[in-house]
Amino acid sequence: MSLLQTSRQGSVLLLHVSNPPVNGLSFALRTALMHALDGAEAAPDVLAVVIHGGAKAFSGGADIREFGQPQALAQPNLPSLCARLDEMSKPVVAAIEGLALGGGLELALACHYRVVQAKAQIGLPEVNLGLLPGAGGTQRFPRAVGLATALKLIPQGRLVRAQELAALPAQRLFDDVVAEAGDGAVLAAAVALAQRIQALRPLPRLRDQTVAPDAEAEAQALAASEGLPYPAPLACVQAVRGAASLPFEDGIRAERAGFEGLLHSPESAALRHVFFAERAAGKVPGVEADTPRARIQSVGVVGAGTMGQGIALACAQAGLPVQLVEPDAAARARALSQLDRHWVAQVEKGRLSADKAQTARQLMTVTERLGDLAQADLLIEAVYEDMALKQAVFREMDAIAKPEALLASNTSTLDMDALAQVTQRPDQVLGLHFFSPAAVMKLLEVVRGAATSPTALASALAFGKQIGKTCVVAGNADGFIGNRMVDRYLEQALFLLDEGCTPQQVDQAIEAWGLAMGPFRMIDMAGNDVSWRVRQQRAKDGKLRRAQPLADRLCELGRFGQKAGGGWYDYDGREARPSKAVAALIAAHREQMGRPARTVGAEEIVDRLLLALGIEGERLLAEGVALRASDIDLVYVLGYGFPRWKGGPMFELARRGEGAVAALRGAFAAVAHDDAAFWAPVH
Ligand code: NAI
Repeated sequence: MSLLQTSRQGSVLLLHVSNPPVNGLSFALRTALMHALDGAEAAPDVLAVVIHGGAKAFSGGADIREFGQPQALAQPNLPSLCARLDEMSKPVVAAIEGLALGGGLELALACHYRVVQAKAQIGLPEVNLGLLPGAGGTQRFPRAVGLATALKLIPQGRLVRAQELAALPAQRLFDDVVAEAGDGAVLAAAVALAQRIQALRPLPRLRDQTVAPDAEAEAQALAASEGLPYPAPLACVQAVRGAASLPFEDGIRAERAGFEGLLHSPESAALRHVFFAERAAGKVPGVEADTPRARIQSVGVVGAGTMGQGIALACAQAGLPVQLVEPDAAARARALSQLDRHWVAQVEKGRLSADKAQTARQLMTVTERLGDLAQADLLIEAVYEDMALKQAVFREMDAIAKPEALLASNTSTLDMDALAQVTQRPDQVLGLHFFSPAAVMKLLEVVRGAATSPTALASALAFGKQIGKTCVVAGNADGFIGNRMVDRYLEQALFLLDEGCTPQQVDQAIEAWGLAMGPFRMIDMAGNDVSWRVRQQRAKDGKLRRAQPLADRLCELGRFGQKAGGGWYDYDGREARPSKAVAALIAAHREQMGRPARTVGAEEIVDRLLLALGIEGERLLAEGVALRASDIDLVYVLGYGFPRWKGGPMFELARRGEGAVAALRGAFAAVAHDDAAFWAPVH
């Protein structure tokens, strides 16, 4: 099918854009639009033009299939297409439905008139890819909605409904807002407008408008972006300010220069990598478009602790009925009151309307009997991390669940196959490893067991998507992807203490590099007792890879972390303070090891921690536990506070290059005491 079809309604030429899925402005489409505009200009019987993209999307912007390819910027590029629209001597109307984002909105802004469906999504999200809108968006958008609104939306890449912008006083963005959706209502309104204004001159061009400076909005936007460790938000603010302080052509030139500068920035490369990682993660070998999948229409969650509650909330918020099973009366009462508080807080914080909260709340029921889950399509077990207990729960779930139901576990460390094998349906068993808080965190590791069927996997992936999660498929290895890597990372952090660092030195170094939270603050928040129990269990099972005497001693003192008022730090509420008791503990430990402290610089700390993640990631790839390096990056960015603008641990390893990484591995192996083997190359 052609990318651009034309039709006529009297003197109005209609240009129908069709480049699924979202009318990305590819080279071929830009060329076709350019020709069509030339043709309209030359045709004496065409008096006006309407561009529209159908009900789903006016245009989502650049065609992501061309990202990084020469066609993306080849002529006619988007700025030239917008300039061509400016030069038209006949009016051009944009008919916007679905969405107009990024370059798609810039194209609409260069048209003379815009008719929009009230619920259409509007925005310039380029900043999320480390860029700024480079086809006039920073100049025309403020001229349409005022500086304050442009400065609120562009530097944050926020999307809003058209009706919100249409309600702004004195806005010039939309000429007509159509309430009804579908049935060609927007197109009909656009054609009617085109017929009405076809003889009207001069043509209204946003470039000819002026926009007033707004000292307060500018100061606020500068304050919000100046301290950020990545350049795009500030570049957006500066470009948008140009709309008020510079003539249009100069503003466009400044925008272009800003865009070029960002295009080659490492942060933009990292952000684009994560953007593609998110798209790649959904492609799983064995799961094809025609793989049958069961639609999950009701969920049962077993265990109403921290995770069970969070998982149930994630389901209810997505509109799925969910039953939560908790046999312990006290735990059940606690869960009910915590869930109540959650809904109240959501309404108080303005995240949900009272109505929506009420609807979601009614989707949730709490019960004491597992037997009540007999009709659920998916059962998720979230009881204590104990193999015998989980196996007992799986036997029971298998006995009561309908034959086609899927059975899942939220285990963080246990062998999924050992759970599957106690059931009569191992092909319908898999891991759904949520991250805490489960109603908030976007990441869901979907663990494929030895017997998990493609249908079960496909259904679980569709379920994840339904509740708004980004799924990454992992093999059944201890700790799957995320926790297996984090184990090595925490181990390295402990080695750094052995060698002479303090917890705060380690945390500060990696936080200054960009991680949201250093390793010691992170485990203090998660609770040191959790990993302590895992170590004890592993020791019992003969599976403990390496003893961690210092971390054990910390727990023996009851220093479980933030919740206990002390861990690797002393806590006053959430504020971490260096702890004298911990300093003494570390000193005694070093003395016992007979190891003198050496000075370890911030650079070595950062390199050790990042390489620990990256090297274990390489092992996971070699073992087939992770499907691709970008999946690993996604796990770290979405699940562990790894900065999106740094791309992830595997991206970082690749950025440094093989030679540099090999040199560091050699250097670390040489200073390592008993972990030299870890730094050895992967074969
Ligand atoms: P929790 O201790 O808060 O909750 C466990 C709940 O299970 C308790 O309410 C307990 O009464 C209930 N329970 C025990 N036996 C039961 C049975 N036979 N039937 C029904 N309910 C039963 O534990 P949490 O933190 O929610 O962890 C649950 C699981 O999630 C564990 O496997 C854990 O490894 C995993 N996980 C935990 C994360 C976390 O950050 N806390 C993150 C990801 C996974």
